[in-house]
Amino acid sequence: MIKLVVNTPKGGVGKTTTATNIALLLAQQGYRVMAVDLAAGLLMSQTLASCPEFSAESSNTIVQNEAQSIPDNFPGASSFDYAVLDTDDTFTVAEDLLLGTRPSWKVISPVNPNDAVGLSRIPREIRAVVLATLLTPSELSLSIVTNMAYGGDSENGYNQLHQQLSDNSIASLLSSIVLPHGNVLSETPLILLGDRDYAESLSELLRSMGVRL
Ligand SMILES: Nc1ncnc2c1ncn2[C@@H]1O[C@H](COP(=O)(O)OP(=O)(O)OP(=O)(O)O)[C@@H](O)[C@H]1O
Ligand SMILES: [Mg+2]
Repeated sequence: MIKLVVNTPKGGVGKTTTATNIALLLAQQGYRVMAVDLAAGLLMSQTLASCPEFSAESSNTIVQNEAQSIPDNFPGASSFDYAVLDTDDTFTVAEDLLLGTRPSWKVISPVNPNDAVGLSRIPREIRAVVLATLLTPSELSLSIVTNMAYGGDSENGYNQLHQQLSDNSIASLLSSIVLPHGNVLSETPLILLGDRDYAESLSELLRSMGVRL
């Protein structure tokens, strides 16, 4: 089971939105998905529970656990192709991953470039994690993704984030794929896959991370 962890050390950047749509997209593509909701409020699991892809008869499952850390055990993991984890900004997922305890996991870090405070803070915090890896033998598996949560010009957003990351010498972690502002076309506010541009960008992002779609 491949574990995709959505985590950014900042609130309101689109972690839950990104995790929810990744879980749904993978399920729609026929992968067996374990959606692991560790975030306060359990919004991802509430959303997925209303989707036929995650019905009791499906080969997908939802695990709810408002926690402050990633569990070490995933019961039944062999029945699933992917685990998609939604987390809170207070988690130290990246540190755990980069310190080598969970080396095969992939972390996706959405960043909203229209949030000035976040934009200045996030690169510094992620950089501290990257520097920590220099002291360890772990492989870095972390993709920072521009997420246009508030709308605005995608190219401008990407360039702003790229500049901030460059200033912190970690621009190489930025994905060239931008998640556009998605329109909600279903009754469920978090689901953006009905928006073609959003769905295509998310698919592209997953492909760039080695997911076959
Ligand atoms: N690409 C996007 N297009 C449109 N709206 C988005 C997008 N990404 C996020 N949003 C919106 O931005 C807001 C914050 O998103 P979300 O709740 O996913 O962030 P979060 O990082 O999980 O927040 P928290 O730290 O509170 O858990 C929500 O209203 C969500 O619908
Ligand atoms: Mg959230």
